[in-house]
Amino acid sequence: MMTSKTTRRSQAWFGRQDKMGFYYRSFLKNGGAPQDQFDGRPVIGICNTWSELNPCNAHFRTIAEHVRIGVLDAGGFPLEFPVSSLGEVTMRPTAMLFRNLASMDVEEAIRAHPLDGVVLLMGCDKTTPALLMGAASADLPTIGVSGGPQLRGMYQGRAIGSGTDIISMSEQLRAGEITLEEFHEAESAMNRSSGHCMTMGTASSMASMVEALGVGLPGNAAIPAVDARRNNLARMAGRRIVSMVEEDLVLSRILTRPAFENAIRTLAAIGGSTNAVVHLLAIAGRIGVELTLDDFDRLGRDVHCLVDLMPSGRFLMEDFYYAGGLPAVLRTLGEKGLLHKDAPTVNGAAIWENVKDAPCWNSDVITPFEEPFKPDAGIAILRGNLAPDGAVIKPSAASPELMKHTGRAVVFESIEDLHHRIDDDELDIDASCVMVLKHCGPKGYPGMAEVGNMPLPRKLLRQGVRDMVRISDARMSGTAYGTVVLHVAPEASAGGPLAMVRNGDLITLDVAARQLHLHVDEATLRARRAAWTPPAPHAERGYAKLYIDHVLQADRGADLDFLVGKSGSPVPRDNH
Ligand code: FES
Ligand code: MG
Repeated sequence: MMTSKTTRRSQAWFGRQDKMGFYYRSFLKNGGAPQDQFDGRPVIGICNTWSELNPCNAHFRTIAEHVRIGVLDAGGFPLEFPVSSLGEVTMRPTAMLFRNLASMDVEEAIRAHPLDGVVLLMGCDKTTPALLMGAASADLPTIGVSGGPQLRGMYQGRAIGSGTDIISMSEQLRAGEITLEEFHEAESAMNRSSGHCMTMGTASSMASMVEALGVGLPGNAAIPAVDARRNNLARMAGRRIVSMVEEDLVLSRILTRPAFENAIRTLAAIGGSTNAVVHLLAIAGRIGVELTLDDFDRLGRDVHCLVDLMPSGRFLMEDFYYAGGLPAVLRTLGEKGLLHKDAPTVNGAAIWENVKDAPCWNSDVITPFEEPFKPDAGIAILRGNLAPDGAVIKPSAASPELMKHTGRAVVFESIEDLHHRIDDDELDIDASCVMVLKHCGPKGYPGMAEVGNMPLPRKLLRQGVRDMVRISDARMSGTAYGTVVLHVAPEASAGGPLAMVRNGDLITLDVAARQLHLHVDEATLRARRAAWTPPAPHAERGYAKLYIDHVLQADRGADLDFLVGKSGSPVPRDNH
């Protein structure tokens, strides 16, 4: 399919020879655009999440400049525009609360403007799903360009990883094993270049999803932010989007069911973030692909974790890039029959064409399938009377000895309750207990914060305990680790069984059997439910109220119910 210059979407604005044509062209001419700029050449939006409040995306003006050059190279008309930027570590109560809001911003901005194609600039965790969700609902030709990971952190002669080492060092500080001065020095050492978190956290996982879905160019996942090849990739994306408009290669032709299946298997092979589960479900919901939690379990089951990256392993994204990056992983999946080879990608080639000769330069970082870093490490979906609609655990980041465990519940009714009591030496807890945290789900926090990897009690840390079974309706950072059961659905604040758990109840986690069971009989649970009153909602007005009233549960991607699906790009009316 080709679109001709005269039928091009932007010509509904710029192709008019009347009052409205004057409006639409004249005001853009104040930027220096000559008359022939409006002749029907593809108009490309560069959707930028640059923000100083989101340091992971703070280098995006440079990336946007390279996209712009690429668009001009190919004869397009580039127009950069800003959308909400979501800084994972700066926003409270959690950037996730605003993912859906940002996606609305993106969708409406794309639709309302005279654009024929879009390049999405994404980096920090939530910016990637927000932009993909919004773009999916508008469905123009779209390329994703990730901002790239930071260089690896270097501290006291060793590599340290974003998030992962923050978590371990803060536990060491609480246990009295390191000084505050060392802690501060590590802060500077961890963030030493532009880019997003350089562990295989949520940002790197989502950048890998962009590449595995075929919506980014090969190499998108791992090129460091400050490597010149990142700018080169941005330029190539700018050139390519112009031809994509000419080919009418809209996003729904890329984001097909096979593309999502490729992404899910890739997520398992990279030991990726549990957050990607929620985000992929939400993106699929927008583009109209049927995807369920069980797809993650079924498709990820035969896949080994091939990359030895933090938080599951030792290395960082920079090492991953030098070892061959995601193309090397995709090639291995393809060779094992675990890739839909003909899934189309934005560069016009099927995914297999892009990766079939991809080299691996370091088999310590990207391991062979026969000798995987961790076998059978796909994300596991648990069910049982404690999580009728499912819960998620990342086996590659868990302790093998806790994967089958029964313990006594120690319940925290809220995040404040947890913070208040966790370091109390009187807390009745030992290493065999199961920590349960309630009211941290989508409605309950609100926004389903990354608090599921609860800090361990200080008195147990001092005894050398480094992991315990933890269960909640929260998420956890993609950089976190431990035997942590997340995304329990329905959440406590929606009246899920999690709300009915009491101190002393026995809970069994059995990852191999995919079970999460609360050893309390039906009649007792019914009685507890009858006595239960839901907590007062966190907001009575504004966006938070809209969110709480309409957010779907984690098993459906935590999108707002009225945002599921797409409206496409038509706008029938002029503005004057
Ligand atoms: Fe932005 Fe980790 S805080 S990617
Ligand atoms: Mg995070």
